[in-house]
Amino acid sequence: MIPDSGAGSGFVVVANRLPVDLERLPDGSTRWKRSPGGLVTALEPVLRSNKGAWVGWAGVPDVDLDPITEDGLDLFPVPLSSEEVADYYEGFSNATLWPLYHDVIVRPVYDRKWWQAYVAVNRRFAEHTAKVAAEGATVWVQDYQLQLVPKMLRMLRPDLTIGFFLHIPFPPVELFMQMPWRTEIVEGLLGADLIGFHLPGGAQNFLYLARRLAGQPTSRGNVGVRSKLGVVQVGFRTVRVGAFPISIDSTQLDEYSRRRSVRERAAKIRAELGNPKNILLGVDRLDYTKGIDIRLAALEEMLAEGQINPEETVMVQLATPSRERVESYIQMRGDIERQVGRINGEYGRVGYPVVHYLHRPIPREELVSFFVAADVMLVTPLRDGMNLVAKEYVACQGGLHGALVLSEFTGAAGELRQAYLCNPHDLESVKDAVTGAINDDRDARRRRMRSMRRQVLTHDVDRWARAFLEALAQDRVAGSALLSD
Ligand code: ADP
Ligand code: G6P
Repeated sequence: MIPDSGAGSGFVVVANRLPVDLERLPDGSTRWKRSPGGLVTALEPVLRSNKGAWVGWAGVPDVDLDPITEDGLDLFPVPLSSEEVADYYEGFSNATLWPLYHDVIVRPVYDRKWWQAYVAVNRRFAEHTAKVAAEGATVWVQDYQLQLVPKMLRMLRPDLTIGFFLHIPFPPVELFMQMPWRTEIVEGLLGADLIGFHLPGGAQNFLYLARRLAGQPTSRGNVGVRSKLGVVQVGFRTVRVGAFPISIDSTQLDEYSRRRSVRERAAKIRAELGNPKNILLGVDRLDYTKGIDIRLAALEEMLAEGQINPEETVMVQLATPSRERVESYIQMRGDIERQVGRINGEYGRVGYPVVHYLHRPIPREELVSFFVAADVMLVTPLRDGMNLVAKEYVACQGGLHGALVLSEFTGAAGELRQAYLCNPHDLESVKDAVTGAINDDRDARRRRMRSMRRQVLTHDVDRWARAFLEALAQDRVAGSALLSD
């Protein structure tokens, strides 16, 4: 049943997931818990301050829930059947689009049945949103699972102002062209008034495709960061295309990390780990894009070569379970758990493993305590649209003590230039970055951290949302002048 919200909401976020998942407990009862991933981390504070509605899936199949208000947010659940979860979510979204948009690290599967489910579910999201949005409302559609929604929604509700933001990388044209339904996807996105990417490169890839696949005239100048938007002319409509690097609620996290309870817990974590000289930390969804295997391989080689002393150094890997029925995720989990076992078997002592590996979501306060405790944060994705964990670590390092090892293949590397940058495809480069992060003198580490903190604290998620929403609110016609760029 599609809810009818009466007068409707003036600001609506549409994302595959609601910010909370419905959890079924063994005794048959249910409760809501925070849903995983960076999209929710970033958008939740934005929605709270803009008092909007959120349309999305509650994370479990085959339940049709009424709209709810949870912790002050108006949530409008969209139901998915078990088959749709398999075909639209696990299939087309996470075994086709996710690997295609992340440099085909894993081979994308192109399946016509999955595509049909993707079309049907996108239509359902558009229909729900059309019911929830007030006359003339602003609707902000999120991420790769819903790329057809802008066009479908525009056809249902031409009065709406529609923004779209892609939270993952937009791939190089050569890779995107593999997609059998490439034109449909580009046309789906062109239903929006403003299409946002993290980086100018993604925006430029899209402009090229809008010309080549959708045959629409576009601007040709370079797209800037939060500036110099590109333009696509779609009939009488002007679609803008821009780069808006996402961020976190950095002030709140900074304040949180300074709390006495967090500091005390951080000291206790250090003690529980045996008061090592160096705590290395990884925090990720268990995803093959994150390069967890790469940081483990670097650690293993450094232990073997004597560059790291297992009596002085521990690594903690906190991994949230993710997409657990998708084949590539099942395989990767096995590989990583074998790697952890091998390292501990080879270099651990009784009661002192070198790698502490937890496969579960960690409560926020505990996670922040880990960020405070860690001497070196390891962020080594093979490809990541932004990577909020890198920014979270920096926000929690008010003491300027820690060092960030960061893959060049993350969006965050464009802003956090003072990190110990590495190429995750080159193990020597990862090892060099870890060595630098561990061994550089205190002043050098502090200088780097201070500079990164300036960036993260001044470029927070509120600034990201304002930049996007202000651009969305601008007179749509004004953009057409830019076509002559
Ligand atoms: P992605 O969106 O691909 O998962 P990001 O790094 O952008 O990657 O965002 C991940 C978010 O999930 C961050 O807010 C991070 O703190 C949170 N997170 C990651 N791993 C865990 C974990 N093990 N427990 C709790 N939260 C986690
Ligand atoms: C990334 C994606 C989000 C997604 C999240 C968690 O952040 O960009 O769209 O919600 O991962 O993944 P999941 O498949 O559990 O929703």
